[in-house]
Amino acid sequence: MCGIFAYSGQKKSAGDLVIRGLKKLEYRGYDSWGIAYSENQKIGLLRKVGKIGEFDLENTALPQSTLAIGHSRWATHGGVTEENAHPHVDAQKMFAIVHNGIIENYKELRDELQRKGYTFKSETDTETIVHLIADYAKENTFVTATKMAIKRLKGRFAILAIKADEQKIIAARRGSPLILGVGENEFFIASDIPAFINHTKKVMYIDDDEMVVVNEKPHFYNIHSGEEIEKRVVEINWEPQSAEKGAFEHFMIKEIMEQKDTIYRAINQKDSEILHLADEIKKAYGTFLIGCGTAGKVCHAASYLFSKVAKRHVNVIVGSEFPSQQDFLKEKSLVIAVSQSGETADTLEAIEVAKTKGSKVLSIINVEGSSMDRMSDYAIHIKAGPEKAVASTKATTSQLAILTMLAYACDNRLTEGKRLLIDTAGEINDMLNPRYEKHIRALAEKIKDFESMYVIGKAVNYPIALEAAIKLQEVSYIHAEGFAGGELKHGPIALISDGTPCIAIVANDETRTDILNNAMEVKSRGGFIIGVSPQNEDVFDQWIKVPDAGNASPIVNIIPIQLLAYHLAVLRQNNPDMPRNLAKSVTVK
Ligand code: G6P
Repeated sequence: MCGIFAYSGQKKSAGDLVIRGLKKLEYRGYDSWGIAYSENQKIGLLRKVGKIGEFDLENTALPQSTLAIGHSRWATHGGVTEENAHPHVDAQKMFAIVHNGIIENYKELRDELQRKGYTFKSETDTETIVHLIADYAKENTFVTATKMAIKRLKGRFAILAIKADEQKIIAARRGSPLILGVGENEFFIASDIPAFINHTKKVMYIDDDEMVVVNEKPHFYNIHSGEEIEKRVVEINWEPQSAEKGAFEHFMIKEIMEQKDTIYRAINQKDSEILHLADEIKKAYGTFLIGCGTAGKVCHAASYLFSKVAKRHVNVIVGSEFPSQQDFLKEKSLVIAVSQSGETADTLEAIEVAKTKGSKVLSIINVEGSSMDRMSDYAIHIKAGPEKAVASTKATTSQLAILTMLAYACDNRLTEGKRLLIDTAGEINDMLNPRYEKHIRALAEKIKDFESMYVIGKAVNYPIALEAAIKLQEVSYIHAEGFAGGELKHGPIALISDGTPCIAIVANDETRTDILNNAMEVKSRGGFIIGVSPQNEDVFDQWIKVPDAGNASPIVNIIPIQLLAYHLAVLRQNNPDMPRNLAKSVTVK
């Protein structure tokens, strides 16, 4: 949530570099943006409402500067206005700040500063930080003043501060991502690595409660003790092009198509490690699967897999609901956190609680080096490569693959589970051909003007129906809801009227007859049934064929619905990569 990018070095085009970096981070927030740079011993500001992607950088002359910070915003405190857009500056325009997160004690700080005569130009919590630094800087150096200000902040944050007359960026974080990229006599700071990977693959991770002063050489400090910390430079092995759209029109379709090989990559893990983690699950006094949004639906689906494949009960709690159930967590419990970004605030909070209770934590994540990766006892990297579209696609199926593999491993059938997933990956490769996509686009044409649609599923495909509804809502903005097929007759069937599209996910297993009956109940009330199934059925008005994947059916069933959501979005002239009101990485609670 909110993208941060900064440059400090010898190039005079810092503003340009920062805007280009922010464009790569736009998926994290896109209601407004801004940059600050030093110009003639004062801070220069450029702030705009709207998407940074729409800014014509080629035809805009930016002031020369060797230092700049920037921010792409997803509003939390204060509406979407230029005044509320970051960076924020002090009255003398000596200091500038960008911030991601929420300062919980900002009201108290704001009152204190107002009593001292500071005036505020925005409604944001961020502006308090810049005035606080300016206030401390009356009697201290920039570094000391910033240290003093940061010490007073409560809540989660990633912050960058600059001063007009110093070639220095100060960065600090607690609970929100921030990574330092190390180039040749130049530095980049960003919310994620793909934003600067075309400049450098060398990174230094900034951990929670750390602050780094970046000038000729970065110096890391603990925010509380002030002690200097030794840090290593780590080399990243991602290829820059994996974070680019290439020939595809949108990241979402590129990432859907990448599922031809992301499942292989996900399951390419050391057997000994998977078996060890399966043992941890078996030994645990209660296993808790935790995730938010799509990752939460993956956890829900996994609970059916653990039950069916491994005859093992696991608890599922969405991140934001975890606090009210945390008392069930014991010292010997295991928390499995599922997350693409590894930065989602509600999931991170659950991990923090687990750690205070002494429970073990296993994270299943895509972003290596993310907060969850670094906080957990064990981590499985799904290796899907950068996922940039807000709506998760390839990360979803990779997470499902890992959890399927773990369920099999818990039943001492890891080889069988892997075989199933390898075969499924091969079938996905065959399925994702241009003819298939054309078929789904034609279906999207047919249903694009409906105001509502429904998705039904049973057993492990019930959470997939829920996930399908999320996909449709997120990018098409059509009112979509997922239900357990058996629940329809208890209320939701009243929503069906003539022609209402209803997707029925029908697996070729013991649930087939029931879900077909549910589809028939919808059809009898005028519903238009779109069947996602290995075989065509009488009740279907339209059939989307999927491979018969047995226990891997959730993986193959969600893919055509991702494609349908994508094409509905495009046909309805929505930007599928940056849906309204959303952000990719939700680092606030
Ligand atoms: C946001 C994204 C979703 C994602 C969820 C959890 O809402 O738009 O696609 O599922 O956050 O994110 P995580 O990074 O923890 O998987």
